[in-house]
Amino acid sequence: MVNIRMAEVKDLIEMQQCNLWCLPENYQMKYYFYHLLSWPQLLWVAEDHDGRIVGYVLAKMEEDETKPPHGHITSLAVLRTHRKRGIATMLMRRSQVEMEQVFGAEFVSLHVRKSNRAAFHLYNETLRYEINDIERGYYADGEDAYDMRCTFKRNKEVVGDGKMDDGGGVEEISAAVEQISVGKGDA
Ligand SMILES: CC(C)(COP(=O)(O)OP(=O)(O)OC[C@H]1O[C@@H](n2cnc3c(N)ncnc32)[C@H](O)[C@@H]1OP(=O)(O)O)[C@@H](O)C(=O)NCCC(=O)NCCS
Repeated sequence: MVNIRMAEVKDLIEMQQCNLWCLPENYQMKYYFYHLLSWPQLLWVAEDHDGRIVGYVLAKMEEDETKPPHGHITSLAVLRTHRKRGIATMLMRRSQVEMEQVFGAEFVSLHVRKSNRAAFHLYNETLRYEINDIERGYYADGEDAYDMRCTFKRNKEVVGDGKMDDGGGVEEISAAVEQISVGKGDA
């Protein structure tokens, strides 16, 4: 079983370690603290039955007052041993719910490498983010980034029976179970 819960101060070192294992974009500990102190509801972790952090989402609210309130996904990663079990999807949805409900975000943005097929699938197909722009040479190694956005309200469409479809099941997740079953890993 993997438990999805809000991050605490004690989790930050393991989140940073998970980031180091999974991504070339790494951050100093003070940047994790800055996120946790400023927007504690937006940091979520997945922990295994031994209490080990196997995934995290680090997110924030953007402070650009020329735009409507919106969140930003700073970093997301799941250990290779625990991928393709819906953990990243759950982490993202939990953070997005808080972004919208606690901070009044109208949309959420993020950057992703053009070559990152797994993350692009997650954002575009599963969570229904759309490409807002392409940022040439965004990453340190010169790779381009997709600047992607998911608009919370716009995702709500009236479906055939008159019910609202939020597209990504964002509200449902508020009430979703905190634990998800974990099958065999892909690594
Ligand atoms: C991207 C990442 C976070 C996905 O984590 P995950 O827990 O495996 O994702 P999920 O299990 O929630 O899968 C979400 C969707 O993506 C799909 N997916 C996951 N890995 C995939 C892959 N390698 N190729 C294609 N699709 C993939 C899943 O099938 C699922 O699709 P579905 O909803 O249509 O069934 C993980 O691969 C990772 O940590 N990668 C390294 C760090 C990284 O790239 N972070 C994102 C930076 S922007």
